[in-house]
This record gives sequence, structure tokens and C-alpha cells, in this order.
Amino acid sequence: MKLSYFLTIVFVLGVTSVASAQEPHRMHPGDLALSIDNKALVSQGENIFSEKCSACHGGRGVGTGRAPCLTCGKFMFRGNTNAEIFETVYSGTPRDGSRGGKMGAFSSILSNEEIISVVTFLRATERDRIASGEIADPYNVDDAAMKFPE
Ligand code: HEC
Repeated sequence: MKLSYFLTIVFVLGVTSVASAQEPHRMHPGDLALSIDNKALVSQGENIFSEKCSACHGGRGVGTGRAPCLTCGKFMFRGNTNAEIFETVYSGTPRDGSRGGKMGAFSSILSNEEIISVVTFLRATERDRIASGEIADPYNVDDAAMKFPE
């Protein structure tokens, strides 16, 4: 299935489920909707993240110096919407000027549904970190945690 079709279906499902479930997470009305209150989905994403991502991005995605923070409320590579984060995981980080080129695509390793679960886990963790005060100002975090490796 083409990625754009898949995202449209996910978006429509997200919109039609709003009435019954808690508000899904999205950055603007047309963004990919993520059910961050769906515990099973978040936990599936957490397991995949531990296995495939935390070696570089750290536990809970807090960043390691090898790879940037993914739960600091800021995504500087491609953009901060859920659809852009999905796209980054799907296609990797192609070299762009002086940065990028260190993370491969996950499109052949994870299904679209699995990538959605990982991004849902990241957004749920980001929300928890904001709620607990671990991140003081999500959209103005310390750029050191966000640094891309040289
Ligand atoms: C081999 C190490 C490595 C692994 C494994 C890895 N990443 Fe990355 N990732 C990076 C690096 C390094 C960057 C920063 C861009 C660059 O230098 O290529 C990055 C960037 C990103 C970004 C963009 C961040 C921003 O600021 O916009 C996202 C989103 C991301 N990774 C998600 C993931 C997810 C989800 C997984 C697991 C499915 C994963 N990464 C696995 C190294 C890794």
C-alpha cells in the first residue's frame, strides 16, 4: 500500500474514533492522529523502541550524544508533526547538508502499524515527561540533548 494512502486511512480512522476515545494526539487538524491513551499500543511501541531504537536514542528516547532526544517535544530533522516523525522513521535520515545520514530507513524492518506504535510511544512519553516537569518547556528545550552527531 502506498504510504500516502495508508496515512489517509489512519487519519480517517483517527477522526471517526474521536467521539468515543480520548482525544488522539496531533499537531494540527490534518496531522496523523495517534492514540496516546491506548496502553496496549503504547506498550507495543515501547517494546519495539527498546529493541530497535534505544541503543542509539537512549531509554525512553532521552538522547545519548550518539543520537538526539525523541521525547523532548522537538524534532529538528524533518519537522515536528506526527506525519513528519513517521516519515523520518519510515525513510531514515538522508544526509542533508552538514547533518543526517546516520540512521537507515525502517520501512523494510517494521510494518507501518509498528512504526505508528513507536511514534505513539514517543508522544505518550513526551506527554508524561511534560506532565512530571522533567521537561520544563517542551518547545524550548536545551539544544544539547537535540544535537545530531558530527
Ligand atoms: C544506529 C543508530 C540509530 C538507530 C538504531 C535509530 N536511530 Fe534514529 N537517529 C539516529 C541519528 C544519529 C539521528 C540524527 C540524524 C542523523 O545524524 O542521521 C536520528 C534521528 C532520528 C529522528 C529525527 C529526530 C529529529 O530531531 O527530528 C527520529 C524521529 C528517529 N531518529 C527515530 C528513530 C526510531 C523510532 C528508531 C527505531 C525504530 C531509531 N530512530 C533508530 C540514530 C539512530
